[in-house]
Amino acid sequence: MNVLIRGICGKMGTNIYELLSGDGDAKVVCGVDVVKKELPVPVYTDFNEVKEEVDVIIDFSSPDALETVLLFAEARKCGIVLGTTGYSEADLKRIEMAARRIPVFKTANLSIGVNLMQTLVRQAAQFLGDQFDVEIIEKHHNLKKDAPSGTALMLAKSVNEGRDNALKEVYGRQGMVGAREKNELGMHAVRGGTIVGEHEVLFCGEDEIITISHSARSKRVFAAGAVKAAKWLYGKPAGKYDMSDLLT
Ligand SMILES: NC(=O)c1ccc[n+]([C@@H]2O[C@H](COP(=O)([O-])OP(=O)(O)OC[C@H]3O[C@@H](n4cnc5c(N)ncnc54)[C@H](O)[C@@H]3O)[C@@H](O)[C@H]2O)c1
Repeated sequence: MNVLIRGICGKMGTNIYELLSGDGDAKVVCGVDVVKKELPVPVYTDFNEVKEEVDVIIDFSSPDALETVLLFAEARKCGIVLGTTGYSEADLKRIEMAARRIPVFKTANLSIGVNLMQTLVRQAAQFLGDQFDVEIIEKHHNLKKDAPSGTALMLAKSVNEGRDNALKEVYGRQGMVGAREKNELGMHAVRGGTIVGEHEVLFCGEDEIITISHSARSKRVFAAGAVKAAKWLYGKPAGKYDMSDLLT
């Protein structure tokens, strides 16, 4: 399986490249990035320059220029793993459109732990009901561009499913905001140092708090998930897939 990594010079791209360097089934044939780095495979700044046969694209870059990577994937009929976060509503619609033509695997978090956490928070929200206020706190390194994290948004969606979608997200609080309303789902983003990724979902009741949390200790956990997803996606029919498809 021939892999193209978009964002190959970044933190995730580097991790995935290193992981695939010792892989017997898949190999990185080239990368696309806005910056250049000396690597044993060609790194292009433009998809038009790509000469290699590509089976699957792994994208950990930026939501910018989504159109160019999707046009390339559609023209070459290759699968695409979208690990990038921070897509707009219009981007998400464009991704849905692409998934009618090619296999697209998209998730904001490629760790098995977070996938399980989604199920746990959905069940907890349903079980505890409106007697418990739910707040989500995420912590990431000081270079992260989007906030709250894609994973925090995914967790919020799961919590809300457990509460019949009755909750409304409230992003941070400042000033005289008044007492907390019952249907609030508080979202808080902390940025600092080299934190890889921490997510906490707090269920706060009267005199008791339940916290469900996940801590990523290195980016390798996401890189391993991306490689697994790319191998799983190879040869699949057009459609939109996520971690729940991979793990069932
Ligand atoms: N889904 C997950 O499990 C998961 C895990 C970690 C990070 N992420 C997401 O992956 C993305 C990248 O994270 P990172 O920590 O590697 O960031 P990074 O800044 O270290 O790397 C991004 C790379 O993409 C390149 N790039 C930026 N714009 C580009 C464009 N238009 N075309 C091609 N390349 C471009 C940059 O030059 C850089 O080399 C972010 O959106 C982050 O939130 C997702």
